[in-house]
Amino acid sequence: MHPAIRVQNVTKSFRLGTNSGRPNLTERLLGLVRKPRANPDNEFWALKGVSFDVTPGEVVGVVGRNGAGKSTLLKVLSRIVEPTAGRAELRGRVGSLLEVGTGFHPELTGRENVFLNGSVLGMSRREIAKNFDAIVAFAGVERFIDTPVKRYSSGMYVRLAFAVAAHLNPEIMIVDEVLAVGDAEFQNKCLGKMREVARGGRTVLFVSHNMTAVQSLCSRCVWLKDGTVHADGPAREVAEAYNRAAAGGGGAEVRLDAHPGRTLGSVRAMTRVRVCDDADGTSPAVPMGGTARVEVEFELDRPLADATLGVVVKDAYYSPIFGINNKVTPCPPQPGPLTAGTVVCRLPRLPLMPGVYPLDLYFGDRLNDFDTVHNAADLTVVAADVFGTGRLPPPNAGPVCWPATWEIRAARAPEGTTDGP
Ligand SMILES: Nc1ncnc2c1ncn2[C@@H]1O[C@H](COP(=O)(O)OP(=O)(O)OP(=O)(O)O)[C@@H](O)[C@H]1O
Ligand SMILES: [Mg+2]
Repeated sequence: MHPAIRVQNVTKSFRLGTNSGRPNLTERLLGLVRKPRANPDNEFWALKGVSFDVTPGEVVGVVGRNGAGKSTLLKVLSRIVEPTAGRAELRGRVGSLLEVGTGFHPELTGRENVFLNGSVLGMSRREIAKNFDAIVAFAGVERFIDTPVKRYSSGMYVRLAFAVAAHLNPEIMIVDEVLAVGDAEFQNKCLGKMREVARGGRTVLFVSHNMTAVQSLCSRCVWLKDGTVHADGPAREVAEAYNRAAAGGGGAEVRLDAHPGRTLGSVRAMTRVRVCDDADGTSPAVPMGGTARVEVEFELDRPLADATLGVVVKDAYYSPIFGINNKVTPCPPQPGPLTAGTVVCRLPRLPLMPGVYPLDLYFGDRLNDFDTVHNAADLTVVAADVFGTGRLPPPNAGPVCWPATWEIRAARAPEGTTDGP
């Protein structure tokens, strides 16, 4: 099968500080006082030999830090910028939605822009007219459809732009970070629409900083780093690796002496928490099914004979998933009364899906918790082949990963086995 998108060794350099080639007055004045840079051309390489293929119907997320080259790549694909070297080939009608409302004309009304944008995407007037009501309804801008779009809020702008791109049936849809601007309801609507587009067998390339959206929408993810492809693989894995890198490799160690999550009336006792993979004791990310270790250091002005720690693991929406403490689970006695020490909690066979889980900590004695810190630190869980099938449960089925055993029983003799020789 021919790829829908073929990116071959695409390289793009920008010349910094020279917009038109002819310096303006400020630049000329600066030129008088500034020493020439080491690199006389002052070239900036936004993309450095980027290559990948996308097969028709694939939904690919593109992630990376600010300035990694994501938008530049999409602009090359949409033919808005010329690559310096390499080539990009696309097969099929492309609908692209780059940054807020690119391709919209501010002086024109919403209605006029729908027609303009549609024809830019290669649609006939008839086709646009046929889809017009659906577009306006999806965008929810009925009342403002005859108002110039320069009067629209940025959210309304994006809603209309997205609605046009999504309804005009492009075979390849290129979307850059639009979801950030809409409200939660519209974001869901966009994700739903993109899922529909994807299910319809069309190809989607989707740039986002929202890893959950990338994980739930995309089958594959390309991670751009400093203008090169740093990783390219299953969306869940790449997004998790990206999350982990973004979280920093320094280990999930958090000071608690002045933590904003400490509740009112707490007596400050916990001073530090460290969350790590028990297998190596250093990695901040715990593989699914592995053992998480939560170490809480405490310091008190009076000796404590019975340190207790409660840990509540919460989901991305800060709802508790489970909680545990060393009163309900057996705990060996502590080595005498202590004014300082560490409580080590191990959570074996972690039944969690990949993700980042905030932890609440409750510290005290047998009778009560006197020091509570909400969202004290994050537990990061990364993908692992827990079932040995190379597959994970669907990403939107909640935070818990639970095994199952199966059996399929026959109601009668299986087909094709009754009339054998
Ligand atoms: N027209 C331009 N002239 C000079 N430099 C540019 C130009 N366009 C982009 N760049 C530079 O190229 C790099 C990549 O930019 P790009 O917009 O592709 O990043 P991005 O990955 O989309 O980032 P973000 O997450 O912030 O949207 C940046 O360092 C940017 O400053
Ligand atoms: Mg960008």
